[in-house]
Amino acid sequence: MQKPLLWVTFHLPQELLEPIKSYVDVKMWQDPEFDMPQDEFEAAAQEADILWTVVSNQVTADVIKRAPKLKMIANLAVGYNNIDTEAATEAGIIVTNTPDVLADTTADLAFLLMMMAARRTLEGARALYQGQWKGWQVLGMTGMDIHHKTLGIIGMGTIGELVAKRATGFDMNVIYHNRHEKPNAYGAQYRSKEDLLREADFIIVLTPLTPATRNLITKEELALMKKSAMLINVARGGIVNEDDLYEALIKGDILAAASDVFVEEPVPTKHPLLTLANFTALPHLGSATVETRLGMVSRNVESLLAYFNKHSIPFRVV
Ligand code: DGY
Repeated sequence: MQKPLLWVTFHLPQELLEPIKSYVDVKMWQDPEFDMPQDEFEAAAQEADILWTVVSNQVTADVIKRAPKLKMIANLAVGYNNIDTEAATEAGIIVTNTPDVLADTTADLAFLLMMMAARRTLEGARALYQGQWKGWQVLGMTGMDIHHKTLGIIGMGTIGELVAKRATGFDMNVIYHNRHEKPNAYGAQYRSKEDLLREADFIIVLTPLTPATRNLITKEELALMKKSAMLINVARGGIVNEDDLYEALIKGDILAAASDVFVEEPVPTKHPLLTLANFTALPHLGSATVETRLGMVSRNVESLLAYFNKHSIPFRVV
């Protein structure tokens, strides 16, 4: 009997396929450095029974319509805004993700990015490497303390709580905004979005990207922030309006910003935000540790094995 075709749309070491390879025929994107271009991804979707995807693969309603055999999508991420889950549900396609396993690692990166912005570390390192470090000056390259400041978390899920946990170790006062007020373990206080924007010294954005959160932070929200405040996005590009953020940084409406995520990834090097000294950028590194990435692969493998063996499927989104 012919085995189902699993299309792995990113490069994965062969040994990680061991647990599932007896169940499927496998095709894999072979370039470890570059993402699979969207047109090649769409061609793969047309012949696949199962897709193993990453966030750069756009699984639109149109892609789903032209994928007659597709039964399952395992997405190597906790976020699944790259997949039209309504269209998948309608077509009877199972979608799975990788929750929790990346939460601590992403919380670490959120904290790192906040500290990079606060202490101007990218600016300082850049000056050093470019031979522009002239000497120790009393007020040279001075940043801002994070301890004893107010941190505002927008989106209080698992990662948000772990950021709050870290913040308590730095004596920060933590406030949060979420769709629903929820008890949380680290004493963070609920605020309306407006109050959080007005009060916080640092704001970390951690919501998923949905129609409701697209452009959650625009010039109106940025105008409410303190002029000394900093905005950090480790969630998804598109939640913070990049044009409005650029304007706010140029005009001094806020002091600095940092982001691990962009509307277009890889972010073009000519992107206006990348020209600003008070903006720190990282290349979507939130979950990028060996342990966590292998954990994410394991989550997807668990879902795939359950599907092959007709068991109830863990980490199912739809
Ligand atoms: C996720 O899991 O959603 C991350 O952004 C991928 O690294």
